[in-house]
Order: sequence, then structure tokens, then C-alpha cells
Amino acid sequence: MTANAEQLALRYNGYHRVSDAREDPELTHTGPGTPCGEYFRRYWLPVAMTEQIGERPIVVRVLGEELVLFRDLSGRIGLLHKHCSHRRASLEYGIVSERGIRCCYHGWLFDVDGTILEAPGEPENSPIPRKLCHGAYPARELAGLVFAWLGPPALVPEFPTFDTFSLPGVELVPYLIEYPCNWLQVAENPMDPFHSVFLHTRVTRAHFNPAWGAMPVVEWHPFEDRTGIYLTNVRRWEDFIWVRTAEVLLPAIAQPPDIYQNPDREKFFPGVGITKWTVPVDDTHCRIIAYRHFGGELDLDGKGDRSKVGLNKVDFVGQTGVERSYEEGQAMPGDYEAQISQGPITVHADERLATTDKGVAMYRRMLRQAVRDLADGKEPPQHRRGPDGQVPTMAGDVIVRVPPTNRDDIELQRVMGREIGRIVHETMDLERAARRSEIERRVRDWLGTDLRA
Ligand code: FES
Ligand SMILES: [Fe+2]
Repeated sequence: MTANAEQLALRYNGYHRVSDAREDPELTHTGPGTPCGEYFRRYWLPVAMTEQIGERPIVVRVLGEELVLFRDLSGRIGLLHKHCSHRRASLEYGIVSERGIRCCYHGWLFDVDGTILEAPGEPENSPIPRKLCHGAYPARELAGLVFAWLGPPALVPEFPTFDTFSLPGVELVPYLIEYPCNWLQVAENPMDPFHSVFLHTRVTRAHFNPAWGAMPVVEWHPFEDRTGIYLTNVRRWEDFIWVRTAEVLLPAIAQPPDIYQNPDREKFFPGVGITKWTVPVDDTHCRIIAYRHFGGELDLDGKGDRSKVGLNKVDFVGQTGVERSYEEGQAMPGDYEAQISQGPITVHADERLATTDKGVAMYRRMLRQAVRDLADGKEPPQHRRGPDGQVPTMAGDVIVRVPPTNRDDIELQRVMGREIGRIVHETMDLERAARRSEIERRVRDWLGTDLRA
């Protein structure tokens, strides 16, 4: 049923607004054989925390596929199809061996690359080990997370090391959170910084610094190579203008700047609070697999707590379904409650996108184009690397003292967002310390000339 314009504006119009609309499968379905699932398989994805791997294999569900993850006795990580190539017993009951994993049913032994090392019930000259490899994916560990390449083996790209993985004095603390809803409604959240004003501040009480409650001036900018979007998110707080730059990289990577940032003094790009991937489990479940960043010049008020970061936990409120009761979630909802309550798979046809949703709409458009391009045979670009081989990123905070004047302050925030966004973008290829001093120098120069005008 579709309500007409008159019915939409009618009071007590529930009857007219009953909807039988369905989700958008092109963007939300990621199982085997789907265009978006195939697209996700063109990027290295985190699949688990290394701490989840014990003496026995674990089942990992990702992109609608069931896999087993284990560490063999020589220390190598294996990520294999769950069902044995022989007669499909699950390798979650397999015996982890010196080299690979042995199926419990008839003892076939599989190496981490899928090589069939032994098929002990078969004759010695059996052609099976020569002719068949078990389904396996390349996997590697980094700072407490396991990443996998689930795409065509001929296309495996170099692992993307972000410029935020090795900042001096900054520690990466891994975490993983299960969401019982579709991946897209979780991944698109960072394109919408306005929810911080309401969900995180005004509607409940401040989850973070009270400055989040100031309405920001936000603009979104696609990267030239269409690998993502960066946004500038600008607020006034007392005598300071606080410019946050952040980005979403395709398919579903985001870096919120310092989540406990306090705009109480000038700062020039101290780093990010989180690097996170939203990974589809199946069409109605996903995981955030991420690093919290601690140390350096982050969280100067000491509000974060690394002991609260890990498997199904993170050190800010309203992020998981296990830490609080339903009633507590109702009393002070967070991202978790807002996002899972959009439904198992949000139905875009029943939304009313408004002015604050420009970034969400831009992200969906870019994603749809990338999914279609791949379906048409055009491989998506990997994230751009800088001269040092790392993927340069945009997320950070620039806070400058600019007391209010007679000048239109919203316009000032808009102009500052554009200029500082441009400076952060143009300095992307500099080494981090040089980039920070260059950002400070250029911002101060610009303020000196522009604000005198
Ligand atoms: S089912 Fe695995 S060895 Fe037979
Ligand atoms: Fe949020």
C-alpha cells in the first residue's frame, strides 16, 4: 500500500501508512552470489579477535558463509570452509594438528591453505590430494584482530595498513560487538554526526562531552577515487571552534576522532578514537570489529577505560546488547538501541530522508555505484596509499580559539570547516608529525589573514 499526499498529511492516518515495503536487496544482502556480498569480498575484512582462538577451532559466520578459524600447533592461522570436503562433517569438531586441522569423521588432514595433507582411509596413490583443495582463505593477524581475504585468490591485494595503526604513544585495543541487524544501518551511522547532538546528548544526557549538544555545521566530500567520503563537522563551544574531520571508507570502515574530545583548548589533529569495520555476518546480523585508540594526546580528561574494551564490550555507553537490561536501554538508549531498533533490515522505502541525512544518502549512492560497477566487471579500487605505503586517512580534531564577534557565526563555521577540511586533505601524504605541524601552521596562517578581513 502506498499512501497518497493527502493521506500522508492526515491526522490519525495509521491505517494509510501500514506498509508492505521491503528492504533494498542490492545494498543489504551480502550472502554468497549477491552483488554486494561479492563487493565486500574485494576488501580485507576483520573476522574475529585473536583472543577468541583457543585450543579448539571456532565457527565464524561472515557474509552468510560458515567458516572455521583455528591456530594450528605450529602457530599458523587457518580459516577454512566449515564442512569437510569429504562428507561434510563440521571442522569445528576437528583436531587442531601440528600442521592444519584433522576432520574428526575419517581423519582427513587439511593445511591452512586447504591442501589435503592426508586422507588416511584412502589408498596411497589416491588422486584426491592432488586434485582437490579444501576451501580456505588467506588470514593474518594484526594487533589482536584476524583479517581475511574472502575474494578471488588471484586478486589478493597488499594488506592495507592505515596511517593510524602506528602513531607514537598510541595503543590499539581490539574489540568486537555483535549487532542483531543488517550491516548497512550500522555502517552508515558515522555519516550522520547529527545523531550525536540528540541521541548522545540532548535526548538523554551527555554520553560524551556536553559540547556534542551544539548543533554542528556539516559538509560531506567524496574522495576523488570514490573509495570513500570525508566529512567536516564544525561546532562553536564557548571561545573555540571545533572542527572534526572524519571519514567512511568503502565498503564499511570508519574512524571517529577522539570520542572523549573536550574542546577546552587548541589542538591540532591529535589522532582518532576508533578504527572500525562493520562486517556482515548474514543479512540480519553484523559485527563491529574495531580498535579503540589510547594514549598520545587522546582523551586528555582520562574518561576512557581500556579494561572495558574487548569481546562484546567497549568503554562508552549503549554499544552492546549484553551489558544492560532492556529497561536500562530504554532509560538511556545508545547507538545499539537506535540501530537495532531500525529493524532486522531497515526498509529504506519507509524512511523520510531529511537535510541531516545528506551523508547517509551520499554513502548509499557511492556504495550502489561500486556494487554495480563490480557486477559490470569493473574491479573496485583499493584504498590509496601514501608515499610510505600506508593508507593515509582524514579523521581528527582541529580546535582553535576564535571568540565570537559580530560576524555571522554559522557562516564562519562553514568557512572554517571547508578550509580546515581542505588543509587536512592536502596534507594527507605527509608523515604524521610533519602533517600535524603543517596543519597547525596553515590553519594559524589562514586564521591570521581571514579573520582580520
Ligand atoms: S567427513 Fe571429514 S574426513 Fe570424512
Ligand atoms: Fe553514535
